[in-house]
Amino acid sequence: MLKAVYPGSFDPVTNGHIDIMERCSGFVEELIVAVLDNPAKNSLFTVDERVQQLKEVTKHMPNVKVKSFYGLLVDFCRQVDAKLVIRGLRAVTDFEYEFKMALGNKKLDDNIETIFISSSTKYMFISSSSIKEIAMFGGSVDDMVPPYIKDQLTEKFNSREEI
Ligand code: PNS
Repeated sequence: MLKAVYPGSFDPVTNGHIDIMERCSGFVEELIVAVLDNPAKNSLFTVDERVQQLKEVTKHMPNVKVKSFYGLLVDFCRQVDAKLVIRGLRAVTDFEYEFKMALGNKKLDDNIETIFISSSTKYMFISSSSIKEIAMFGGSVDDMVPPYIKDQLTEKFNSREEI
């Protein structure tokens, strides 16, 4: 069974991430979206919120599962018995970071391979961090995230303003 892990912070998930998931879920039997639980990182959404959001926006893909993980990616891959890691590449600027991470993971576990999927052109310039900035200042993120995530962003920033 070809099982792959698509790891990330997903803070929040973007249309670019969903595009990668849709394309990959077509050629693997099971795709596990793995949300990094990193307490040291100052995330907008909690890991539970991100898992719930991902479950909501992937419900049209029956072979996609969403889980969180803590610690090393290679340990998580072993836990779920997956030998393939998927990462999206938007531009050359992503390459160095991604290449180092792929080589680091390969050094940690030689049985795990990383494959890169190029972003669709229309999503090349979107990132979770730019989406958070746009949403924080009231700009439109309509073409960048699903309506459900847009509402979650609005709710999060409104609740922060009330504090
Ligand atoms: O969406 P991101 O923030 O670019 O995702 C990065 C992620 C979660 C894939 C990466 O930080 C990761 O795998 N972290 C787990 C810790 C780990 O395995 N580090 C060793 C990498 S060589």
